[in-house]
Amino acid sequence: MGITSNAGAGPAPEQSLTIIDNRTNSTYKIPITDNSILASDFKKIKASSAAVIGDRQREENETEGGLRVYDAGFTNTAVLRSTITYIDGERGILRYRGYPIEELAASSNFLEVAYLLLYGDLPTKRQYKIFSSEVMHHSFVHRDVEGLMESFRYDSHPMAMLTSAFAALGAFSPEANPALQGQNLYTNAAKGDMAAMANMDKQIYRLIGKAPTLATMAYRVRQGRPFNKPPLGLSFAGSFLYMIDALNEREYKPNPVLERALDILFILHADHELNASTATVLQVGSTLADPYTAVSAGCAALYGPSHGGANEAVVRMLEEIGGKENVPKFIEQVKKKTRVLSGFGHRVYKNTDPRSTIIRQVAEDVFRVAGRSPLLDTALALKEAAETDSYFIDRKLYPNVDFYSGICYKVLGLPTDFYVLMFAVPRVVGWLAHWRQMVLQSSGVKIWRPRQIYVGEAAREYVPMDAREQQLRHNEPDFRKTPVPISHGGDTKRRALATFKDQLGRVHVGSKL
Ligand code: ACO
Repeated sequence: MGITSNAGAGPAPEQSLTIIDNRTNSTYKIPITDNSILASDFKKIKASSAAVIGDRQREENETEGGLRVYDAGFTNTAVLRSTITYIDGERGILRYRGYPIEELAASSNFLEVAYLLLYGDLPTKRQYKIFSSEVMHHSFVHRDVEGLMESFRYDSHPMAMLTSAFAALGAFSPEANPALQGQNLYTNAAKGDMAAMANMDKQIYRLIGKAPTLATMAYRVRQGRPFNKPPLGLSFAGSFLYMIDALNEREYKPNPVLERALDILFILHADHELNASTATVLQVGSTLADPYTAVSAGCAALYGPSHGGANEAVVRMLEEIGGKENVPKFIEQVKKKTRVLSGFGHRVYKNTDPRSTIIRQVAEDVFRVAGRSPLLDTALALKEAAETDSYFIDRKLYPNVDFYSGICYKVLGLPTDFYVLMFAVPRVVGWLAHWRQMVLQSSGVKIWRPRQIYVGEAAREYVPMDAREQQLRHNEPDFRKTPVPISHGGDTKRRALATFKDQLGRVHVGSKL
């Protein structure tokens, strides 16, 4: 795209774009608000199919329906107006409701930050007391949830358990389900319906309060240990540590340094504007599904190694590298794109992720009481190598939040596949802050329904099955368009070799392989 500028002294320039559609010679003026334009304004830029010549003239392009905005992977698309979290990726700035993350990590605690994210301001003493008491008292789960957690196989990934458990919680709260109670159950809150408002906040208390209970249950199932009831009188992070660790001791209190370190880690993970999992929660929430289902969907999105699963991937990577002497070889593999440097790079940060700087300090506190990890030496050698290598410098790849957090969890003795749950538990707050904000929008909740650019086949006639063989022979085989035969092993193979009658009485005679 060519750029010319006539900006200079004179009256304040009009906040708009002037666009000339060269297909039709038409000129359009598109208003700019908050340095953004409305994608729907582009729908006014229409062209008759006669104006679009050559092979680009396809009815599927729907030129008469207006110009479409193509943004694969949402690299430059804003889908809502938000007052929650601000990130300046170029300068490495992160603020929750205007407060720098560094100040919150130094002075605040997780439940205070949760209040801030949800309701917009830091709480007064009284507000904090009510809110923290509601959250901590909504930490118990229905007894049947214990059965659900125990029904998982011994080697299940704990994130599979947590994702399922959040969805299952919805089944225990039918009064919280718009599918059963009416689709305005929550959206009435935007019109000042205080019962709807209270119902919404109750589900928020429940989800934040039960998140550590469910996550620690997933941990205990795998250890083969009975579940701990949520304790009273401990902080959010302290309660989490109690529920994973306490056996039958009396007056069990977690180590205060580790408790504070975990609290800071929870603050740092509480929100991060429209990351993939928050966007997923809002996508699901936009259909007016209940918040339990939406949070479960958020967990599913967080699970992936490109998102919250990266802390687990970092530790696996560091263990595989083995020591700092092997770092140069690994860096070469990354540059050849045969490997990914997990814990590096970010869609928004093109400078240091401020959370990684804070976690680096928190890690020292953890090491002081729980011992230092040799993985840190490998991590620091990787960071140093990346800092001086043009591959990483040119692509603006820096350590992200996951680069050091996994090492902290490793030193804390948590199983590698549990790390992503350490991210999910605090992120429930961010998901719900965004969900609440969306539900309370005065413009109402609009279903999130993106469009696509259809580049597939034009309309074609149905081909009878007998004629398809013939057609296939004339076309180049395309691996993307053919299902791949899979080999069968185990009982499937043995059954295929057996002789039996199936449910319909047809005789199956096993043949040799
Ligand atoms: N290692 C090696 N190369 C990388 C990495 C990495 N970690 N991240 C990006 N690159 C390269 C890409 O290959 C690409 O190179 P190219 O221009 O030669 O094609 C370039 O940098 C730009 O990367 P994109 O993939 O376009 O960046 P995008 O914004 O789409 O992806 C992401 C961001 C997914 C975080 C990516 O950096 C990544 O995969 N990082 C590793 C996984 C990770 O740490 N995820 C956690 C993110 S933070 C969080 O979710 C809490």
